[in-house]
Amino acid sequence: MRKSLFILFMIALAAFSGCKNAKPVKTIENLKAGIKGETTASAKYQAFADKAKTEGLDTIAKLFEAASKAEAIHAGNHTKVLEELGEKMEAFTPGFEVKTTAENLQAAIDGEGYEEATMYPAFLEAAKAEKVDKAVKSFTWAMDTEKKHKEFYIKALKALNEKKTGSLSFGYAVCPVCGNTYEVAAMDKNCAFCGTGKDKFIMI
Ligand SMILES: [Fe+2]
Ligand SMILES: [Fe+2]
Repeated sequence: MRKSLFILFMIALAAFSGCKNAKPVKTIENLKAGIKGETTASAKYQAFADKAKTEGLDTIAKLFEAASKAEAIHAGNHTKVLEELGEKMEAFTPGFEVKTTAENLQAAIDGEGYEEATMYPAFLEAAKAEKVDKAVKSFTWAMDTEKKHKEFYIKALKALNEKKTGSLSFGYAVCPVCGNTYEVAAMDKNCAFCGTGKDKFIMI
């Protein structure tokens, strides 16, 4: 009897310590996918900016540059969380295609739409279930930024189709903490997502 109680105790202890040290497996996987997505988007948008410049579309080039910067900030934030969980990102090569600016804008709209409506909501659900608060924050900042990027790209494509790209914003501001992106004329005094003062914003 005593022996079986002891065995039971040991099993309970093992289960308890296993729980305590359990890694948030799904969130780790999602952070890695997020880093890959954001790093690829950052490189892709920089290439799209260069392409827009060759087409004489300077306002659209600025938008791509600002979004590229924002995605790099998201990748950096996800990486910080991943490393705090004791994990490392594997090396990879970003893959993407550069077409005409009109096609690039459509690809960007589709990419942002997938991230804000499908990918990040699923990542957030898992991070909340696994109680990784820092991942919840990093995913939320990225998701809320991608929503804004999508709207900017929709506006830019409409202007391009109507040959009115000169009416688009000539400058953007990117929050260095969360990646939130503003048209310069519409900046908040403090970042609406993370509270950083506008004097710290990266001006594009
Ligand atoms: Fe984005
Ligand atoms: Fe921010």
